[in-house]
Amino acid sequence: MEEVFDDVFLIDKKVATRNLDRGRKVYNETLIEEGRVEYRLWNPYRSKLSAAILKGLKNFEIKKDSCVLYLGAATGTTVSHVSDIASDGRIYAVEFSERNMRELIKVCERRKNILPILEDARYPERYGHNIGEGKCDVMYQDVSSKEQTEILVKNSMFLKKGGYAYFVIKSQSIDISRKPEEVYGDAIREISGKFEVLERIDIEPYDSMHLFTVLRKK
Ligand SMILES: C[S@@+](CC[C@H](N)C(=O)[O-])C[C@H]1O[C@@H](n2cnc3c(N)ncnc32)[C@H](O)[C@@H]1O
Repeated sequence: MEEVFDDVFLIDKKVATRNLDRGRKVYNETLIEEGRVEYRLWNPYRSKLSAAILKGLKNFEIKKDSCVLYLGAATGTTVSHVSDIASDGRIYAVEFSERNMRELIKVCERRKNILPILEDARYPERYGHNIGEGKCDVMYQDVSSKEQTEILVKNSMFLKKGGYAYFVIKSQSIDISRKPEEVYGDAIREISGKFEVLERIDIEPYDSMHLFTVLRKK
């Protein structure tokens, strides 16, 4: 076993985190006991952050005590691994689908570092009072929305200056008729006033039509 980042491990070339909720699975992932510690394998086909780690991500800025704003939390697959890592931190998990939120709440009931927010990420003013301006160390955004870049820019008010953002650009949600490379180029131009682009990671074969980017707030 190798610790590739703080609290992120490789076990037989598979990404894993230490299970904060011992004995419990979130999405039927594999649990592995090593010594007296239980690890959860982090499926790269289910989580773009795990895929990015396997594809050579360099800047991994989620730490034990991080405050993370997570937009597009869905049913908690990736959020649960972020919760394993930021075990003494706080994760604000925004999701607007009630159906997904019902599943997410089950995860949050057992993991006290995740705060679920049933809201539309296009309107940060509706949940901003829960978070506070400039309070987050990291932002993670994986929303299947045409307005992905606007959502990132609007929510960046919660991120500290110099804070990191992981922004998954889904070309098909923005414009299905254009070439992904053109859509990515436009999206990056739109956010470049607020963010410096540190990494662009192609996460094939784990996911297609997505560009995983690592940004730093200016
Ligand atoms: C690709 S899924 C996210 C998967 C998740 N990040 C993971 O790895 O476990 C995209 C999610 O974004 C949510 N979403 C889309 N637009 C949204 C918006 N405007 N506000 C909040 N959630 C949104 C969808 O309901 C969906 O659950």
